[in-house]
Amino acid sequence: MKFGVIGWGLRRSIAKLAHAPEKGRQVVALADTDGDAHVRFRDEISRDVANVDDFRDLFGLGLDAIFVLSPDFLHEEHAVACLEAGVPVYLEKPMAITIEGCDRIMATAERTGTKLYLGHNMRHFPVIRKMKEWIEAGYIGDVKTAWCRQFVSYGGEAYFQDWHADRTKTTGLLLQKGAHDIDVLHWLCDGYSKRVTAMGKLAVYGDIQARRQPGESHTVRFTGVWPPTSLAPLHSVVDIEDISMMQMELDNGVLAAYQQCHFAPDAWRNYTVIGSHGRIENFGDIPGNAVVRVWNSGQSGYRERADIEFTVPDIDPALGAAHGGADGNILEEFFRYLSGEAEPSTTPLDARMCVAAGVCATHSLRNGSIPVEVPGLVHEGLVHEA
Ligand SMILES: NC(=O)c1ccc[n+]([C@@H]2O[C@H](COP(=O)([O-])OP(=O)(O)OC[C@H]3O[C@@H](n4cnc5c(N)ncnc54)[C@H](O)[C@@H]3O)[C@@H](O)[C@H]2O)c1
Repeated sequence: MKFGVIGWGLRRSIAKLAHAPEKGRQVVALADTDGDAHVRFRDEISRDVANVDDFRDLFGLGLDAIFVLSPDFLHEEHAVACLEAGVPVYLEKPMAITIEGCDRIMATAERTGTKLYLGHNMRHFPVIRKMKEWIEAGYIGDVKTAWCRQFVSYGGEAYFQDWHADRTKTTGLLLQKGAHDIDVLHWLCDGYSKRVTAMGKLAVYGDIQARRQPGESHTVRFTGVWPPTSLAPLHSVVDIEDISMMQMELDNGVLAAYQQCHFAPDAWRNYTVIGSHGRIENFGDIPGNAVVRVWNSGQSGYRERADIEFTVPDIDPALGAAHGGADGNILEEFFRYLSGEAEPSTTPLDARMCVAAGVCATHSLRNGSIPVEVPGLVHEGLVHEA
């Protein structure tokens, strides 16, 4: 298989993992508007590759798929063009930064019959897979409520020094970062948000005065700056929130909550799901340092020791240990999807409904926490009323 890539930035990690000539899979072409990205691409992949500035120049190269790893606000343009050209797409999360953008991508995929795969790698985290498996096996009975708390220690460096900080490029972090967790909550609870409310603010990074010049480029680096208030300079535009929380009523009656903080000292996600007969929770999310616990034998006071416990084993870094051990797994599924042997764990509709929830929650957050109804999908041939 021969792959092209649009965008050789931080997320090039997934394309580098896909590049395995010994297994018959090669990344052979890059489209990026930044000259430094082309230098990185040649250094990291091969001198014998095609480098183009305009992504449309990838279409004549006989590629088996294109990885769309460009910034969020370009996903719609890039995915639609690839699908129109009949080239299968691996599209990073979030699908787009607007609901209309998602619907346009989905409609194009359906009309052209071109394969569209969404890069929601969190569904492939072993720790999340185990929670899903045990919930489906009935360990906690019928799911009634779920909460996710996300602590992001690297939030300042990752999201406040480049395009992420500008809401016109992302909508906001409740969608940009939360896309992972909203999707996982939908998945664990087996429903889509139909009504959301949210609250949030720019609590820490807004006080930092040092800013880049408009248009000044920046490459994200993780240096572990501490405390968060010492981070500088920030992006020229900073109008997103660094703390946000949303509540969701799902279409199956489940109530869920998601909380995200970008100035925490430590980084991990903590999900707890409570059903009619028990509670499941993860502690840590990295293989080798993640435990799933279930309490379901009866009432008690605080009880650290769970009734059932599973420690997620360490995995071979060569298999893609990054991102909670998910990246190798999602790529394997993507390759099997391309060859017709597997269906995606995350459908385009799943990805669209998670964007819809994030967009509506951001609207609520910026408009006095009003409840917002999440629009279902209604277009030619495909109807989903949330
Ligand atoms: N699934 C995950 O865990 C995960 C992790 C990180 C990022 N992401 C997603 O991956 C995407 C990329 O994020 P990133 O952190 O790598 O961003 P980045 O800014 O580091 O890289 C983006 C790249 O796209 C290039 N680019 C910009 N405009 C372009 C254009 N018009 N044509 C071609 N190339 C263009 C930039 O020059 C840059 O090299 C985002 O959508 C992000 O949400 C997903």
